[in-house]
Amino acid sequence: MKPTDNRTGTAVTVEHLCRRFGEQHALRDVSLALAPGRVLALLGPSGCGKTTLLKLLAGLDRPGSGRILFGDNVVASETTMVPPQHRRLGMVFQDYALWPHMSVQANVAFPLEMQRLSAAEVRRRTTDALVRVGLGAMAQRAPAQLSGGQQQRVALARAIVAQPALLLFDEPLSNLDRDLRESLCSDMAQLLRQLGTTAVYVTHDHEEACTIADEVAVMSRGGLLQQAAPATLWNAPASPEVARFLKLGALTPARRKAGGGIHLSGSDTVLPEELLAPASAAAPRAGEGQLLIPGSAATPGALDGAALRATVAAQHYRSGSFATDLALPGGALLRTVTRERLAPDSAVGLHIAPRQLHWFATAAA
Ligand SMILES: Nc1ncnc2c1ncn2[C@@H]1O[C@H](COP(=O)(O)OP(=O)(O)O)[C@@H](O)[C@H]1O
Ligand SMILES: [Mg+2]
Repeated sequence: MKPTDNRTGTAVTVEHLCRRFGEQHALRDVSLALAPGRVLALLGPSGCGKTTLLKLLAGLDRPGSGRILFGDNVVASETTMVPPQHRRLGMVFQDYALWPHMSVQANVAFPLEMQRLSAAEVRRRTTDALVRVGLGAMAQRAPAQLSGGQQQRVALARAIVAQPALLLFDEPLSNLDRDLRESLCSDMAQLLRQLGTTAVYVTHDHEEACTIADEVAVMSRGGLLQQAAPATLWNAPASPEVARFLKLGALTPARRKAGGGIHLSGSDTVLPEELLAPASAAAPRAGEGQLLIPGSAATPGALDGAALRATVAAQHYRSGSFATDLALPGGALLRTVTRERLAPDSAVGLHIAPRQLHWFATAAA
């Protein structure tokens, strides 16, 4: 590979990547692009192909077809395979994979030992990495003398110490309990922004993905559904599948009438077009499709003046309020938050903020 600037991250381009295990299509025609210094989260349910994609980026596995480029250099294709040690990577996995017989200092220094640096330089860089992850005082301890969160910080220091061009993370927080997960996640997000290294971060957790990443790639069954900034995913999901995976709200089959109005299937309810988000309103009008009513756009209240009438299906107490599932006309369930306990099966009005609903037209057969 051509030498690159030692301090900055690499651009990553993935072109039509496929990987099969027997009959199992672990990746189907995945393409994505990541600019230098950006942090991308790969988000999707278990088994959707996240680790497979990460291993291909790492050079721990070969693609069936397609290419991966770091900058202008092809690192993987049907004919090229740059080994992991020549890809300038740092990696952090779910299990910390520290060497138990070596001190924290020695674990972190390890990637530098191959580089024929002076002992003073190794010490300087190791100390810097440990300070960055908040473990400046722990250098002489053994991994077993640290908590799980601290061990993962050591693994993070080891991943960044050699100034990699690309950092790869595979569910690094899933072995930690919730409080630790949250604090380490925001510390890592801050660190990644300071470093300016490009990073790909695998997770199945929405909040983690949004905290850590500039962009989120939503995956399902080996395919990439949408790559966008977190706010764009939430405000403009590309498909019903994305909306469903992100649990954005209720999806209900409906028909847009030629003269305007959205008729909810299996009911008498017709909603005005003004409730649609601008991008949905601009889409072709008449026809069948699915309407997304985001939970964040809907407020339960009086029947008078409500956009539609719903029925209380279930309620669960959540610290300070109730998670209330409402059955919409046609039967779809919408989760909302209410302050009061509502009687099961009682009718409530649903008030919907304008320009918040999304329309997904059914593709013509
Ligand atoms: N080495 C392998 N041999 C056979 N099947 C595999 C192998 N690695 C992954 N798979 C299959 O490929 C699919 C994607 O797996 P993976 O990338 O590990 O998913 P994720 O990390 O999103 O949970 C799964 O169905 C998994 O069983
Ligand atoms: Mg995985």
